[in-house]
Amino acid sequence: MHQIKLADNIYFLGFNDRRTHLFENIWPIPHGVSYNSYLIVDEKIALVDTVEQSYVDDYLGQIEGIIGDRKIDYLIINHMEPDHSGAIKPIMAKYPGITLVGNKKTFGFVESFYTKPTNTLEVYDGHTLDLGGTKLQFQTIPMVHWPETMVTFDETHNILFSGDAFGSYGTLDGGVFDDEINLDFYEVEIMRYFTNIVGKYCPHTQRAMKKLTHLDIKMIAATHGPIWRSDLNWVLSRYDKWSSYNTEKGVIIVYGSMYGNTQKMAEVIARQLAERGIKNIRVYDASKTHSSYIINDIFKYKGFIVGSCAYNNAMFPNVEILLTTIEHMAPKNHYLGVFGNYAWNGGGVKNLMKFAEKIKWELVHDPIEEKGALKADKFEECIKLANAMADKLLADEDLK
Ligand code: FEO
Repeated sequence: MHQIKLADNIYFLGFNDRRTHLFENIWPIPHGVSYNSYLIVDEKIALVDTVEQSYVDDYLGQIEGIIGDRKIDYLIINHMEPDHSGAIKPIMAKYPGITLVGNKKTFGFVESFYTKPTNTLEVYDGHTLDLGGTKLQFQTIPMVHWPETMVTFDETHNILFSGDAFGSYGTLDGGVFDDEINLDFYEVEIMRYFTNIVGKYCPHTQRAMKKLTHLDIKMIAATHGPIWRSDLNWVLSRYDKWSSYNTEKGVIIVYGSMYGNTQKMAEVIARQLAERGIKNIRVYDASKTHSSYIINDIFKYKGFIVGSCAYNNAMFPNVEILLTTIEHMAPKNHYLGVFGNYAWNGGGVKNLMKFAEKIKWELVHDPIEEKGALKADKFEECIKLANAMADKLLADEDLK
């Protein structure tokens, strides 16, 4: 295999996963994902994170191809989620003298997932480790993405090993560095990775970005996706925007519909929004479009209108799954509209309103509920709901 270097003595060890359909067994990855690990070869040798367990044999082979029969001195664990910690146990078995480097929260995860580590080095914010020429500094960034998460900064080469932060879905199809790639491909995948995986922890992401501003970072090497070395602002500005809930003028309309009546209400609302000059309108059928993509758009656009038919006195199950996922993510700062339909007893809109109470987004209009086919009075209500949403968006001076 090619040896890919970040610096004279720093190697990229990455694996492309084009087999897995669902990341974390939840999120679709039609374009795959990469698991990136890094090897620093100096007087001492350090490995920064590992890879998902399916790739262990090739991973160990690649390491041996670089260092021969030298031993690895340190395994730096920036993050313990198994897509990065999957090779910890095999690495410990192959290099029994290795010291695991983590913070006070790391080693409990190692023990609960794998085994009690024998040699450990507990590091703290600003702690440094000299490999004999390459000097590393550690900074914790809790909840980006787990409690134990930290980053490792190579002070010698100004490289930030950032873990999940600034990572992306999408395999590395030949190109590994940002200047080797047409980034259009990653525009959606990096946002979806952020919104799906880290999006719940926006305030933590903001804190982490502020905490790292004092570092003179010239390269960012995440555990997924491209290595950023030519235009760091490309990724930093996006992360800053997304994690500050900075949305644009637009509306997502999602509906669950069995016989088409709820869908018709969605179409009326969408058309009226367009007549009011709203250009970013995305209409989704919750039974077809995975929540991964809808949540991604919620981080893009400020308006969210959700509709559901009644289903066994409750809302439509696929809408319920979506709304539960949104509650988990808890994105802030949205305008909300609610509508729905029923045949006999209702239950859709009533339960959508429970979501509205929990999520605490600004409800722009009273909920609308039609019985059966859409008729003139509820058609007019749909127009009013769309107008109320358009009024809010057009008057909002913070929106582009
Ligand atoms: Fe890529 Fe949170 O692991």
